Formats: sequence, structure tokens, C-alpha cells
Amino acid sequence: MNIAILLAAGKGERLRANVEKPLVELEGQPLFSYCLDTFEKHPLIDYIVLVINEELEDIYRSYINEKHYSKVLAIIGGGKTRHQSSKHAVEFLKDFANDNDLIIIHDADRILLHPDDLTKTILRAKETGATSLCKKVTSSYAIIENDHINCYVDRDKLIEIETPQIFTFKIFMESLSKAKHKNYSDDASILVDSNIKVSFVCSEHPNIKITNPKDLETCKHLLGR
Ligand code: CTP
Ligand code: MG
Repeated sequence: MNIAILLAAGKGERLRANVEKPLVELEGQPLFSYCLDTFEKHPLIDYIVLVINEELEDIYRSYINEKHYSKVLAIIGGGKTRHQSSKHAVEFLKDFANDNDLIIIHDADRILLHPDDLTKTILRAKETGATSLCKKVTSSYAIIENDHINCYVDRDKLIEIETPQIFTFKIFMESLSKAKHKNYSDDASILVDSNIKVSFVCSEHPNIKITNPKDLETCKHLLGR
């Protein structure tokens, strides 16, 4: 079984919109619904767990009922941080998922996720047990010290981390039990922190995360391709 966990419990403070980020509309559609549609239509996704701010649960429930999504297993409340939100979702799945099931954790604000990139990431995770979608870097990067450039970083050794990040349920539960910190900015870093190998595949399509107002404009432009 392949279970998607769509993280949409963030407030979107940096976007500075008048509603919480997942509910911001782009081209007549709330942001959270873009990847919900991608997962609903994707043949390798069996179930979806939507993680939201539970104070807004009625809004999400009525949207989902109205659109007749068939794969939404549950709508659950997230936590104060992204890490707590993904943890809530896997804890919810304890009585439902089996060790070898894949959980597909994705930021709902990466609305452009392409079905082919999703397929590639799932297939790699089936082989390796833990995979993150990533992006090749093309710019030059350097480490700064105070007010100057200290040294350049070898670009061939750099990768930009994206989502989805896909793990077998067993591997992810094990890494959570070994987690050393209270907060992680993504889920693959929990495994890396416990010396568990995470493989990667590179995205072939834009998969930007809507964070700042200008990202909305970029996505709007890319949606119109
Ligand atoms: N997220 C979540 N629960 C949280 C925080 C974040 O589910 N407590 C989700 C967001 O909804 C988003 C993803 O994690 O899909 C990545 O987080 P980020 O881009 O930081 O979104 P926000 O936290 O909503 O934005 P900001 O940090 O600007 O408030
Ligand atoms: Mg955040």
C-alpha cells in the first residue's frame, strides 16, 4: 500500500496572505487541493491523509465532500511544527499501515509536483526503502564568514532537498524512535541524523515551494505553460 501524507497545517506567515496558506486561492483553486488532485489521480497512490489546522476542519471537510475525493482516508490535525505534523500523521497510521507500506510525505505548498516525478520517487523508494525527491543545483554556492566569502562548495556534492520524501513505514517509525532533536525541517533529515541511508532522485519538472508572495506569481506563470 502507498499512503500519501499531505502536510497542510502550516500558517504561511511568510506569504502574508489574509487566509492561511493552504486555503489561498490560485487560479480559482485553494493551494492544498492541487496535490490532493495529483494524489487522487495517481495510479500508485492508494490512500491520502490530509494534515491541517484542526480549527479549520469544517472548511476542508466540506471541500472534500463536495469534490468526492475517494482516496482521502483521514483529515487530521497537525502540530505546532512541520515535524510534529508529520509525526501526528504516522502515529495516526500505526493501526492501519504495515511495515512495508510506503508513506509519501509531501508539502502541500509544492503545488506543481509532477506525476512523473512522483512515480520516479515511489519506484526508487520501493528499491531502497527511503528516498527524497531533490533538485540538481545550477548556481555556485559558497560559505560566508562574517562579511566575506570564505570558500566555494563543490557543486557536484550539493543537492537541493524537495518533497515528496518516501519511506517504508517501518524505517520511518524506527528513525522517529531514534530522533535526537525536537524539530527537523524535513523528514529525510531524521533518517540521516540516525545514519540511515536516504536515496534521492532528481526532479525533472519545477517543484517550487510557495513560501513568499513572489512564489505565487511564479507558480501562476508555470501553471499557464
Ligand atoms: N506544515 C505543517 N505543519 C506545521 C508547519 C508546516 O503541516 N506546523 C506544512 C506546511 O503546511 C507546508 C510544509 O509543511 O505545506 C512546509 O512548511 P512551510 O513552507 O514552512 O509552510 P508554513 O509553515 O505554512 O509557512 P511559514 O513558515 O511561512 O509560516
Ligand atoms: Mg514553516
